[in-house]
Amino acid sequence: MSKILITGAAGFISSKLLYRLYKDGNDVIFLDNFSYCHDDNLVFEDKDFRKEILNVDIRNERYLDTLFKENNFDIVYHFAGITPLPDCQNNPAFAIDVNVKWTIILLELARKYGVKKFIFASTSAVYENNTDFPSVEENVRQPSLIYPNTKYAAELFLKSYFDCYNMPITIFRFANVYGPHMDCLRTKPPVIAYIIKELYFDRSPVIHSSGNQERDFIYVDDLVDLAVKVGCDIKKISNVRKCDSQFEILNVSSNKTISINKIIEIIKTKMKKSHIDTIYEDPLNYWKEYSELYIGAFPINKNLLEKEVQKYTCLSNVPFHQFTKDGAEREK
Ligand SMILES: NC(=O)c1ccc[n+]([C@@H]2O[C@H](COP(=O)([O-])OP(=O)(O)OC[C@H]3O[C@@H](n4cnc5c(N)ncnc54)[C@H](O)[C@@H]3O)[C@@H](O)[C@H]2O)c1
Repeated sequence: MSKILITGAAGFISSKLLYRLYKDGNDVIFLDNFSYCHDDNLVFEDKDFRKEILNVDIRNERYLDTLFKENNFDIVYHFAGITPLPDCQNNPAFAIDVNVKWTIILLELARKYGVKKFIFASTSAVYENNTDFPSVEENVRQPSLIYPNTKYAAELFLKSYFDCYNMPITIFRFANVYGPHMDCLRTKPPVIAYIIKELYFDRSPVIHSSGNQERDFIYVDDLVDLAVKVGCDIKKISNVRKCDSQFEILNVSSNKTISINKIIEIIKTKMKKSHIDTIYEDPLNYWKEYSELYIGAFPINKNLLEKEVQKYTCLSNVPFHQFTKDGAEREK
């Protein structure tokens, strides 16, 4: 049994992780400020976490200091963050504050109170400017959009904490995650959640591209399996891996791609909504709900929006034992 802290625990991925860690018999403390989630994520068939969750903002440093001091955490899963791309683009200072600055403050608490493993949720979006596929962890070209830059910047500081203090740190770069608890209701939901929502209400999904672009998707329970293994089976993992596992960056992906059009077709068939058309729109309108991005002396770059909607993603997910000692090369 491990003593675990999860941040962002009412969110899509963390709520699923929370349930799994609880079922495995761990002692889990979990918090969220409910800025981007619904508390029904905390209700499971045989367990309701709504009364146990700490309604706390990660920016409440005094509270967190006491929490870390009193709990002697083995593992911290830091998954809270500002995740919608246009929200980060629209309010960069806020996104940087939450996703970068407060990640570092949590890391500092982890250092101060001797957390045995700090696990951070980064994103495959850091590869947005990469042109070699499948994307490998060692090779990132600096991204352009604000959201991936916040994650990329946080990653650099996590590496700095490993270099300076030898802290055990894992960074997950999640591909597009899908599954139960996805937030269909936010202004710009993840693409699969959006398609399901539109079809559910008998509306045509609007896609700001040809729909032919292929992406790498990972099912949330598969992600949770890996997150639990990496966090809780620390001994087992370091026996399997040949590299120094104190600092690791792991792609979390299926290494398979599927087009948005194919996804729409599958969902329409499953929901018996094949009679509903799909509408294809200009990429420039992709973030039209965020009108401020389109005004001022320097409106958002049309090429960048086009690139974002047409983006191809495919992440390598070579198993652990195929890493070489320094983690820099892979055996095929
Ligand atoms: N879902 C994906 O496809 C995906 C892909 C790559 C990376 N990620 C990363 O994985 C993590 C989890 O993603 P998700 O899809 O579950 O996101 P989510 O938005 O559903 O969950 C994030 C949670 O963090 C909470 N939160 C935000 N700011 C907070 C604050 N200041 N204090 C406390 N809680 C706060 C939100 O209320 C929300 O419940 C995020 O860090 C995200 O960037 C997700």
